[in-house]
Amino acid sequence: MDNPKNKVTVKVPGTSANCGPGFDCLGLAATIYNELEMTLLEDERLIIESSGDGAETIPTDDKNIVWKSARMVLERSDNAEKFKGAIIRMENHIPMSRGLGSSAAAIVAGLTAANAIVGTPFNRNEILKFATEIEGHPDNVAPAIFGGFTVSTVDKGVVQTFSFTPKIKLKLVVAVPDFPLSTRVARQVLPKSVPLKDAVFNVGRAAMLVAALIEGKERFLSTAFDDALHQPYRTKLVPGMQEVFSAAKKSGALGVALSGAGPCLIAFSAANKRIENNIAVEMVQTFKKHDVQANALILDPDTRGAVVNF
Ligand code: HSE
Repeated sequence: MDNPKNKVTVKVPGTSANCGPGFDCLGLAATIYNELEMTLLEDERLIIESSGDGAETIPTDDKNIVWKSARMVLERSDNAEKFKGAIIRMENHIPMSRGLGSSAAAIVAGLTAANAIVGTPFNRNEILKFATEIEGHPDNVAPAIFGGFTVSTVDKGVVQTFSFTPKIKLKLVVAVPDFPLSTRVARQVLPKSVPLKDAVFNVGRAAMLVAALIEGKERFLSTAFDDALHQPYRTKLVPGMQEVFSAAKKSGALGVALSGAGPCLIAFSAANKRIENNIAVEMVQTFKKHDVQANALILDPDTRGAVVNF
């Protein structure tokens, strides 16, 4: 029988990064989860099983990102000699490679599970630092760890995250296209430098967005999700993107954005079932006009982030 102290379960939320103007800085956690059960072993066996979204594409060897992340914690806490193998079982509900933080969830799950089993030598800020090292930017891993809406900065490897619960009760209507888009490809289309006026456009909106959410001033959201730094360059990667945005806004969305690097599109709505459903239907139908099959998710913001259970 497994030693129960070597076994833990972790539930990690999906996330939507950027939130429009906050490229690589803003993110929020949503009520869609991947669940992981990890047992660390003293021998070198590695058994990885997954079910749910994209299960057939997930590596089951030492290239697996959950295991790689767990290894980072084991090495940095001097436990790599003690635990050389693992049994990892995943149940994935976050759509893979769609812009809802599936890779961040895997990284955070691996780090958090291994950290819990070896006695929590690292606090959440240290886990955030490790996760950002692996992912390259903090905007998905931060809300996956802390929950809520997050503002993150990175300066010479030092990652800081401010997490808060917006005062406006937002619903997240997400249109999930049936094709994946790799973050690497979606970053390759971005320019190396941007005009100052576009930078100013985004700084103002990102600041306005955070201020409006903290103060609960819904009327300031009407332009606060707009972006000039990444979405215009990524439009060509998501057929119908601008039309889907317009359809969502016409149906009552407070704001719209590319979710992370895409291809999911997210509409932020006030909590109202009729409006949320209308937005969802209009987004899916508009995608269809551009030959993209999509399904819609209507989610709430998650406020807890990664949760561990023994
Ligand atoms: N900020 C990142 C990007 C999120 O837009 O490329 C994707 O993981």
